[in-house]
Amino acid sequence: MDKIFTVRLSEDKNAVEIIDQTLLPNEIKFLRLETPEAVFEAIKELRVRGAPAIGISAGFGMYVCAKKLSENNFYDELKKLGLYLVSSRPTAVNLSHAVERMLSAVKGADKKSAIPLLYEECTKIYDEDRQMCRAISEYGLTLVKDGDGILTHCNAGALAASEYGTGLGTLLLGKEKGYNFHVFSDETRPLLQGARLTSFELNHAGIDVTLICDNAASLLMSQGKINACFVGCDRVAANGDTANKIGTRSVAINAKFHNIPFYVFCPSSTIDFNCENGDKIVIEERDSGEIKTKFFEKPVAENEVKCFNPAFDVTPAELITAIVTEKGICRYPYTNSLKKLFG
Ligand code: MRU
Repeated sequence: MDKIFTVRLSEDKNAVEIIDQTLLPNEIKFLRLETPEAVFEAIKELRVRGAPAIGISAGFGMYVCAKKLSENNFYDELKKLGLYLVSSRPTAVNLSHAVERMLSAVKGADKKSAIPLLYEECTKIYDEDRQMCRAISEYGLTLVKDGDGILTHCNAGALAASEYGTGLGTLLLGKEKGYNFHVFSDETRPLLQGARLTSFELNHAGIDVTLICDNAASLLMSQGKINACFVGCDRVAANGDTANKIGTRSVAINAKFHNIPFYVFCPSSTIDFNCENGDKIVIEERDSGEIKTKFFEKPVAENEVKCFNPAFDVTPAELITAIVTEKGICRYPYTNSLKKLFG
């Protein structure tokens, strides 16, 4: 496969460049995002998606768009821009973390001195993510052995972050080090990130991957084919309750029943210490068209049939065997173990 990237700052520094993930795996197309509206739309429509990747996009987006703000009321305008980008998707905390970092990097500065500081901060967010993904992947490798069967849900790979990704990072790094994993990728209804993105990424990395319908996971677990479940996360509350792609909770419950370890891969940019527990996490609801029409030639349900389409669910902390971070591996109870690692 040609070298692809998920998100980066353009060479002329005037655009956020992304691969349009809505077209994968059938078409590889890169987009230049140069306005607040374009960045907002790309995040909202999941052209760029995955918690770390949308945080990075918002950081680059604020830098690119800040250059076009007027000098008068510069900081207030920047704040408005940040709030606008944050409103594109509510669940992944990386988005608001990135915007907060960009704002606090330039508090009180005028436009002229703020622009280089914004550049510094957005490239820092990107570089830190690469380092975090690599460290998470190293820790992840200590939890598995050569030949293991791994179940994945959604996409927590390089397409969701800067480089290795979080949940898939261990598998990609393991491949580089000679491990042979057998990965079962949940297709991940309704937007099919597992089918369109995870199986694409792993297949091109030369990793053995088998695509399954989400509801086949339990059968595979009962047959002893799954040694561990690997998922990413969009917001981890202070007590370890974890929001991730809808269906993650079912995977965790299934894993518990079959006595299979369930691992969450989590950069510190996804931990929300201000959020006490999972009840406080806002869950994004999306359009019914994603269930009824999006991937089908003809609608699969009548127009008047009601739909409920939450994009995420919350897995209770007690179902999570470990949370793998860039600073180490945390175990239940997470209120203590997360605090111990991150202060
Ligand atoms: O709706 P998406 O595709 O943005 O959802 C992504 C996920 O749920 C990922 O598992 C999560 O963001 C972690 S990505 C490293």
